[in-house]
Amino acid sequence: MIDNDVITIDGPAASGKSSVGKAIADFFGYLFFDTGLMYRAVSWAAIQAGLDIRDEEAISFLAEQIDIKIYPASIPDGRMYDVIVDEEDVTWQIRSPAVNSCVSQISTYERVRSAMTAKQREMGKQGKIVMVGRDIGTVVMPNAKFKFYLEATAEERAKRRCMEIVRKNGEGVYKNILQSIKGRDQIDSSREIAPLKPARDANIINTDGKTFDEVVNEVISIIKIKKPGG
Ligand code: CDP
Ligand code: CDP
Repeated sequence: MIDNDVITIDGPAASGKSSVGKAIADFFGYLFFDTGLMYRAVSWAAIQAGLDIRDEEAISFLAEQIDIKIYPASIPDGRMYDVIVDEEDVTWQIRSPAVNSCVSQISTYERVRSAMTAKQREMGKQGKIVMVGRDIGTVVMPNAKFKFYLEATAEERAKRRCMEIVRKNGEGVYKNILQSIKGRDQIDSSREIAPLKPARDANIINTDGKTFDEVVNEVISIIKIKKPGG
């Protein structure tokens, strides 16, 4: 029996599964489901519990017990969804370097895989879903009608991840600077002695979207107008 309304996308890290998968899901009005987050969640929980990553028995037991919930994004901080593990929001923690460094090892354990696969099939059988991962077309949903496998060289994929990190860190740095600037503006404008404000007879020049040269020229032209022949 073919699953007509299941689309699977597999491929290596940073091949574009999540970004492409989400766009496809939005286009068809399907649910987007990133199965990698489940292995990441198990890895995060194992680290939290102080388990030895090589302790297959303990990690398998954890994977069989773990409660992973996925909800629509509740915070507009760039996340695609909320990942809740045992009541805790771990959406960003599961992307940490610590998780990156052990998730592939944990994902080799047979009982971990079968626990995750069972949960993923539960989701998949609802239909109208785009599922992305490593083994979705081969193992989890082998009857899906549409299967894709994205690939790119490791060099190309490393560049993509690098750009992504620069973009994300850039946003974080920007937000910190913005907050600091707003904080100083507020203190400078509201202090009693000599607060920041334009003089009543000042020429106010809004510099938004103007280049340095444009602002200099604007200042010069105002001076010239007010001081003809100067
Ligand atoms: O986003 P990225 O491709 O970097 O990784 P991910 O999809 O979040 O998956 C993290 C890790 O989980 C992978 O490197 C695999 O070790 C494992 N994984 C898996 O074994 N099977 C899946 N269906 C999905 C992920
Ligand atoms: O889910 P997966 O790890 O396979 O990859 P992704 O998170 O969808 O994509 C990794 C990064 O590569 C993202 O920043 C994408 O925007 C970017 N990307 C790209 O530059 N060109 C593509 N053809 C696909 C993804």
